[in-house]
Amino acid sequence: MASVIHGNAKLIEHPLIQHKLTLMRKAETSTHKFRGLLAEISMLLAYEVTRDMPMALTEIKTPVATMKAPMLEGKKIVLVSILRAGQGIVDGMLRILPSARVGHIGLYREPKTHVVVEYYFKVPRDIAERDVILVDPMLATGNSAVAAVHRLKETNPRSIKFVCLLAAPEGLQQMQEEHPDVPIYTAAIDEHLDENGYIVPGLGDAGDRLFGTK
Ligand code: URA
Repeated sequence: MASVIHGNAKLIEHPLIQHKLTLMRKAETSTHKFRGLLAEISMLLAYEVTRDMPMALTEIKTPVATMKAPMLEGKKIVLVSILRAGQGIVDGMLRILPSARVGHIGLYREPKTHVVVEYYFKVPRDIAERDVILVDPMLATGNSAVAAVHRLKETNPRSIKFVCLLAAPEGLQQMQEEHPDVPIYTAAIDEHLDENGYIVPGLGDAGDRLFGTK
């Protein structure tokens, strides 16, 4: 099963992803299980998001004959994690993109003004020659993702894609208005945000569930 397009957003409806996501949503799923499932889903999402990676034919020798065989050209990917829950996706994606570089963006929301403040930013120096896959499991209000993309654009990467597990309609709309040039990949679009900014029905606080901090 492929994907459904909503503007620049792709809903990835693969049965394996949907099944694992349902297990992650369940309140009784343990931290251990949640972490493993997030890594597995992330590998499947990486498969989808890298579909258009350029290939080149290279001459190789098998034990039987020589042939021109396809290989990835360039392979210049940076996985950028929005801290802290993005790290769970990066860990999974690195299993099938082991040569990818990794960047980190730390953001928090100022409680009074609700302005997004950056507290950490580290990306590879050669990011201008690389394609960025920005990851955060939850696209809720969209404020963090929007701010992270603005910050990344200052570093001028070749391209930026955004990958999440769950999106709220509010976050999708914000991202699509602010960054219509950034494709979004998500495994589900949920109903709405509650008054605390949680995605409903969602899966709770992704960081707490991933790291067992609650
Ligand atoms: N961040 C989370 O971890 N969960 C939500 O539901 C929304 C934002």
